[in-house]
Amino acid sequence: MDVDLWSDVEATYRERTPRSRELYGETAEHVPAAVGSTFREWTPHPLYIDSAEGVHLQDVDGNRYLDFGMNNGAGMSGHTHPALVEAIQDQAEQGTLYTKPSELLVEAAEAITERWDAVDTVRFTNSGTESTMHAIRVARAHSGRDKILKIEGSYHGVHDYALISKSAPREKLGHPKRPTKVVESEGVPDAVADTVEVGPWNDIDAIEDILQEQVREIGAIIVEPIVMNVGVTQPYGEFLGGLRELCDEYGLVYIFDEVKTGMKVAPGGAAELYGVDPDLVAMAKSIGGNVPVGAFGGDDAVMAEITDGAAHFGTYNANPLALRAVITQLREVLTGDAYDHVDALGERLARGYEDVLADHGVAGHVDWVNSQGTINFFEEPVHDYRDFLANVDVDFHENYWFAMLNRGVLAHPHHPSQQWTISVQHTREHVNEHLETFKEVAPRLARKQ
Ligand SMILES: Cc1ncc(COP(=O)(O)O)c(C=O)c1O
Repeated sequence: MDVDLWSDVEATYRERTPRSRELYGETAEHVPAAVGSTFREWTPHPLYIDSAEGVHLQDVDGNRYLDFGMNNGAGMSGHTHPALVEAIQDQAEQGTLYTKPSELLVEAAEAITERWDAVDTVRFTNSGTESTMHAIRVARAHSGRDKILKIEGSYHGVHDYALISKSAPREKLGHPKRPTKVVESEGVPDAVADTVEVGPWNDIDAIEDILQEQVREIGAIIVEPIVMNVGVTQPYGEFLGGLRELCDEYGLVYIFDEVKTGMKVAPGGAAELYGVDPDLVAMAKSIGGNVPVGAFGGDDAVMAEITDGAAHFGTYNANPLALRAVITQLREVLTGDAYDHVDALGERLARGYEDVLADHGVAGHVDWVNSQGTINFFEEPVHDYRDFLANVDVDFHENYWFAMLNRGVLAHPHHPSQQWTISVQHTREHVNEHLETFKEVAPRLARKQ
C-alpha cells in the first residue's frame, strides 16, 4: 500500500526500525510481499515483531509499543494473559491435536451457547474466514437458494464467496441503492461472484427492492452487525431488526458475521447489544484469546443441515488447544467485570480523543461502541462505506498513525478503516498515555488540515 508520509515522520520511522527494514528485504526473498497476510504490508516497510506481553509489543529493533491494535481485534485478552498462558501450556503437555472429540468440545460449546440466545448449537473452525464460509454453505443448504446478499463495504474473510465490494473504488460504486458488484481479488471465478448480490448499509428499502427482484434466487443475508471494516459504522434506526423481518418474510437465513463484534461489544455480541436474533452467527478473533480459532452456530433447525448433508470437516477443527483457549477466554478472562472495565476505558479513550480534537482545533470525530472505537479526521457522519470513502484522507490518517507509532503507541490496526480494541489488561494509565501521545501529535495535524 503506497502512502505519502510527511518526510520527518517517515525518516523517524526508518531510523527507529532498521532491523525491520533488513528483515523485510530478507523475507521478500522467500515470502510474497514479505508478510504472512497481505493486509500487513505497508509503506515504507512493516514492523517485524519480536515479542508481545500484556498490552505491549516489542519490535526487532527493541522499540516497545503500547498496543491498542490488539491483533485486529483478536486480542481482547491482551497478550500473554496469565490464565491463557497456563491453560495453553497445560494443554501442550496433554496433546494439541487428537482429531477425535473430547470433553473439551462440550465445555467450549456450552461456553458459547450460554452467551447467545440465537445460538442453540455450534461448530468450531480455525478462522473467521472458515466460519463465514461454512455459515454461508449451511444457509444455502437450508434455504435451497444459491445467492447471498452482502453489504457494500463489509468484509467476511478471504474465501471466494464474499470477496466482493469490500473496498471498491469510488469510480466503480454505481448507484447508492443498487451498488455495482466489485470483485476484490484476481482468481475469483465469475460463476462464484454471480452468487453474490450487494446492497447498501442502513437502507432497508433498497435491500427490500433487491430481494423483491430476486425473490427466488437470494437465500441468505450476511452482515457485519456493526461494520467494523468501515471504522465502527453502526446500524441506524431499526435497520438490523428490519432485516430480520425481511428474512422472515422472504424465507432467508439471516447471518451475523460477528468475527469482530462477537464477545466484544457485549458478552453475547452485537446480537445482544441490539436485541436482534440472527439465524446463524459466525465468530472468531476474541473468542479464543489470540489462538487461531473460530466458530459458527445458530438455530437448531438451520444447523441441522450439517447432519443432513452440508459438509463441515477439518483436521484442526475443535482441536484441544483451541478449545482450552476458548473455555479459558470465555469463563475466566471475559467475565462480567471485564466488560465493565473495557467499556469504561473505551468511553474514556473516545471522550479523551474528542477533547483533544476540540482543544487543538483538529477536524474529526470518534465513532465508538464500548471497547471498540475509531478516529475519523473529518466531521461528516459515517452511515455507510460511501460516506467513509467520500471523506477519508488515507495519507493524512497514515501520518497520524505513524506519528503515534514513532512515539510508542500503536493506536489501532494499520489503516483508517480499522478500530482500536481495549483489552482486559489495559488500564486508565494506558489510556492516559495514549491520549497524552495524541496531544503531542494533534497540533501538527491541526496545521496540516
Ligand atoms: C467481519 C470479519 N469477518 C471475517 C473475517 C475473517 O477472519 P480471519 O482473518 O480470521 O479469517 C474478518 C477479519 O478481519 C472480519 O473482520
